[in-house]
Amino acid sequence: MEKIRVGIIGFGRMGEKYLTEMRASGKWDIAYICDVSSGARAYAREIYPDACITGDEDEVFNDPDVKVVGLFTLADSRYEQVKKALATGKHIIAEKPVADTLEHEKELVELVGKSDLFTAVNLYLRNSWYHNCIRDFISTGEIGDLAIIRVCHMTPGLAPGEGHEYEGPAFHDCGMHYVDIAKWYAGCGYRTWHAQGLRMWSYKDPWWLQCHGTFENGVVFDITQGFVYGQLAKDQTHNSYIDIIGTKGIARMTHDFHTAVVELRGKNVTERIEKPFGGKNIDRLCDLFADSVISGKRAESLPTFRDSMVASEYAWKFLDDARTHELPAIGTEAELEAIRHRRSIMKDGYGLLHKR
Ligand SMILES: NC(=O)c1ccc[n+]([C@@H]2O[C@H](COP(=O)([O-])OP(=O)(O)OC[C@H]3O[C@@H](n4cnc5c(N)ncnc54)[C@H](O)[C@@H]3O)[C@@H](O)[C@H]2O)c1
Repeated sequence: MEKIRVGIIGFGRMGEKYLTEMRASGKWDIAYICDVSSGARAYAREIYPDACITGDEDEVFNDPDVKVVGLFTLADSRYEQVKKALATGKHIIAEKPVADTLEHEKELVELVGKSDLFTAVNLYLRNSWYHNCIRDFISTGEIGDLAIIRVCHMTPGLAPGEGHEYEGPAFHDCGMHYVDIAKWYAGCGYRTWHAQGLRMWSYKDPWWLQCHGTFENGVVFDITQGFVYGQLAKDQTHNSYIDIIGTKGIARMTHDFHTAVVELRGKNVTERIEKPFGGKNIDRLCDLFADSVISGKRAESLPTFRDSMVASEYAWKFLDDARTHELPAIGTEAELEAIRHRRSIMKDGYGLLHKR
């Protein structure tokens, strides 16, 4: 089988994950790795000398044999890159958010909608075994009517000012995944919301946020997200779960980033399933995308630019709502400095960016 020629643009933490999964799948010919950072290019040359390593994205776009581009830079360069990809006839796998402003995201949704090229965004929770398992269980009627969706993701992750400067505060950068997955479970749009934020370490933006409200079908939700969870603890941990409550039963999941545990308590069925967590599920995303390109039929479960734009839009709306209420500031700039320093010398930590 002929491999699909792909160019990876943006070779940071995520770019390397795509390289690893694409190499392992055997379906991809990784022709280019492009990054504006000379350190990232030197590292790419070291680990994958077979690719053409470049700092000029136009080399990738202008190669007619490249069928797919992977856009894994930060959000500020994606708008132009998506437009170039469409103009040069490349299918697109994009990281989220698809652009740095909602206006640009909306414009890109229009543009990809008019194109025959395949596009997908890495809303990775949609490709996870645990969320699909829970949603299938709900659809059997075992928990009765879906009533309450509770999502929580708190880790000692990316600190304010450490990176991802174009992706917004934690609730937008990371929280948009949970805004998306709650909507995916509800099966319809958000109707009402009320958000409470906290400006941890007195940073200008809230770094912890909780939002609750309703969907159009009356299902209620609460989403809690924060990269504020014991940043200076001697031994770090996190708290991440989903808790789905129906009129008759429940389904829930928690994980330790290595193993995920799903517990199903339905009318007739009780089950506990424990399997490897699956990381960012990039193997699944790339596989679905490769199969789409090969077959000429886009896999329906691939997350779309519109899915990403809507999640981004509501993450911003919830952040905006939090700013209309009391927004306390707790902690000091000195604590934040200590966190940044600790993360800068950590070898293994939550969501550490590469230091090249
Ligand atoms: N889907 C997910 O779960 C998930 C998780 C983490 C990050 N992300 C997203 O992935 C993207 C990358 O994040 P990351 O953590 O890998 O960041 P990173 O900072 O580690 O990597 C970004 C890389 O892009 C390069 N770059 C910047 N502008 C460029 C340009 N114009 N052309 C070529 N290279 C350029 C940088 O030099 C850097 O090497 C972000 O948009 C982030 O929101 C998604």
